Amino acid sequence: MQRLHEELDKLARFSSSEYPSVTRVLYTQNDLEARQYFISLCEDLNLKVRIDPIGNTYARWEGAEPKLAAIGTGSHIDAIPLSGQYDGTVGVFGALEAIRYLKSINFKPKRSIELVLFTAEEPTRFAIGCLGSRMMSGQLKLEQALKLKDKEGNFLNDVRIEAGFKGDLNEVELSKDYYHAFIELHIEQGPRLEKEGLDIGIVSKIAAPSTLRVNLIGEGGHAGAVLMPIRKDAGIAGAEIMIAVERIAKKSNSDDTVGTTGIFDILPRAVNSIPKEAYLEIDLRDTNIETRDKALSDLKQEIAEICEKRNIKYSIEILNCDPPAICDSQLVNTIEKVTNSLGYSSKIMASHAYHDSLFMAQLFPTTMIFIPSKDGVSHRPDEYSSPEQIEKGVKTLALTLKEIDG
Ligand code: GLV
Ligand code: MN
Ligand code: MN
Repeated sequence: MQRLHEELDKLARFSSSEYPSVTRVLYTQNDLEARQYFISLCEDLNLKVRIDPIGNTYARWEGAEPKLAAIGTGSHIDAIPLSGQYDGTVGVFGALEAIRYLKSINFKPKRSIELVLFTAEEPTRFAIGCLGSRMMSGQLKLEQALKLKDKEGNFLNDVRIEAGFKGDLNEVELSKDYYHAFIELHIEQGPRLEKEGLDIGIVSKIAAPSTLRVNLIGEGGHAGAVLMPIRKDAGIAGAEIMIAVERIAKKSNSDDTVGTTGIFDILPRAVNSIPKEAYLEIDLRDTNIETRDKALSDLKQEIAEICEKRNIKYSIEILNCDPPAICDSQLVNTIEKVTNSLGYSSKIMASHAYHDSLFMAQLFPTTMIFIPSKDGVSHRPDEYSSPEQIEKGVKTLALTLKEIDG
């Protein structure tokens, strides 16, 4: 698997931040060059490459019966600012290695095996996660997609065309019979496998994210001259909301509820000026939709109360509010069988991070294969899974694809 590690290392250099951190944002030069690198490796393996109008890239190993629904696998290669080199990439380049392995043992698939590089699993540019897979599943309709704008005010539709992805966005959606099954290999991004000394996690459910944008408008003014009783400080209202997010997530009845305010900006950002505006992006998730939705409605209520108390005008935009995925139990059993045959230890577990599989699961029998993450760290430059751990993931994926085909 030396080659896979060299590939992952080379991929990490397509980044706008300094190695070993990785920053690879949708349709930037780095993203486009990394995609090109991936495509060249697919072509070396004689896979048939097809790119859809949003940039989802399919690489197909044609089976003996190409009319049968294919078996899908894959993940993403975009990376949030200052993150690591394994999130998503292991499921793309690892799948390539799995195909190489199956070819090396002279396996000839009956169904086609198709590797997908999903466009923008990360919400960095358009504030919505799983852009490519969301469109594939029909959960993001054309009308909504055409409204998506990045921070600079560029429309998704313009930047994708500029990046070279043309064609009718309606064609991104897949039919329910497109894949026979979908399997995503991914790093765990949490500490459970490492803590329990296990090789492989088999995912039974995937947490459901909701993302909110909150805009607060108060009143700016001189930090010395405007006395405390008459202030309408949008920054403090934002800070109170941030605390509320944490409190609501902690007091939920579900251990799986998490709440994060990942973006909190204030304006005008001057030390001697009262913040007149604040902007927050909040991520609330759970594997259980009832507790997640309860947390969401509690938060909306608290935002209203905080803003009323502080005389702040506000707007809340719910960017997405996705249902959790239940993975296919037969596929889970198949992977368990494969790990047993390989002598790998495994456990069935929930995914608290979201993945493109969340959307694939809406269309196809789907599950995921997790490998351990060192210290449970992810979305950081020190994210790490060892070559041995990755190799076990790749072998598990390869033999699972073979088993499903059989
Ligand atoms: C995906 O990266 C997530 O935020 O779960
Ligand atoms: Mn990620
Ligand atoms: Mn990921």
